[in-house]
Amino acid sequence: MERVSQPDPDLLIDFSDVTIRRSGRTLVGPVSWQVELDERWVVLGPNGAGKTSLLRMAAAELHPTSGSANLLGETLGRVDVNELRPRIGMSSAAVASRIPVDEKVSDLVVSAGYAVLGRWRERYEDIDTERAVDMLETLGAEHLSERTYGTLSEGERKRVLIARALMTDPELLLLDEPAAGLDLGGREELVERLGDLAADPDAPAMVLVTHHVEEIPPGFTHALLLKEGEVVGQGLLGDVLTAKNLSNAFSQSIALDRVDGRWFARRARRSGGHRRRN
Ligand SMILES: Nc1ncnc2c1ncn2[C@@H]1O[C@H](COP(=O)(O)OP(=O)(O)OP(=O)(O)O)[C@@H](O)[C@H]1O
Ligand SMILES: [Mg+2]
Repeated sequence: MERVSQPDPDLLIDFSDVTIRRSGRTLVGPVSWQVELDERWVVLGPNGAGKTSLLRMAAAELHPTSGSANLLGETLGRVDVNELRPRIGMSSAAVASRIPVDEKVSDLVVSAGYAVLGRWRERYEDIDTERAVDMLETLGAEHLSERTYGTLSEGERKRVLIARALMTDPELLLLDEPAAGLDLGGREELVERLGDLAADPDAPAMVLVTHHVEEIPPGFTHALLLKEGEVVGQGLLGDVLTAKNLSNAFSQSIALDRVDGRWFARRARRSGGHRRRN
């Protein structure tokens, strides 16, 4: 008989030996991963490592092929995901691609409270509209509220999408490559905003997916390093983010620096070699 254990309500994400398999190929796993209430995680790894797939499971969009996945004290497969999803905020390229270009920014943020994309003709309650403005302010995007989504720059879109993901006051905030496509200034602005959010004790637990250690906001606490669907390392950020682990994950010799709470990586120069003559 199957043993049914109760999910731990203090674990927002509690994956035990989860795998995701498609067409006979294992894309992710086996992965065991726990995220607690006040933790801020970064998930790092090269293209195709399985980061988005894992994040989609954390968003209750994908079920594991094997293993057990508990989210917010509920078990995937035994809970109505439509009840779970409003408790989880998600910003990703897939979410962005579903937003109509002519939707007004304030409407697209406030409509998240109704968990429906594109319902721009709704009449919203004043209290929802106020919260939408607050969330836009948190991301430094309140001045964009009357604009349509299609007119925003890439950096402005990213910030609006995160404001939208925060609208439902989620317990878990999932960000898939929030800084992709941003220029240096845009990236730094976003990293600072996310750093402020990470420092806010009332902010939800956060999981941020990226390829770049430079995009890890100060205040992030934990890291999960993936390579070809498998875990290279996980735990406290300072323990996991080492030149050795990054070199393993990215299959090349990486040098890593930490300055003022931020991380910087580059390919390591060969040591002890002779200077090359032209
Ligand atoms: N439905 C599917 N069928 C087959 N393969 C898939 C499917 N979805 C994803 N994959 C494959 O799974 C692997 C992991 O994909 P995933 O999008 O999770 O990676 P990622 O780490 O987010 O990559 P990137 O950094 O490029 O965004 C990739 O090799 C991808 O091609
Ligand atoms: Mg991805």
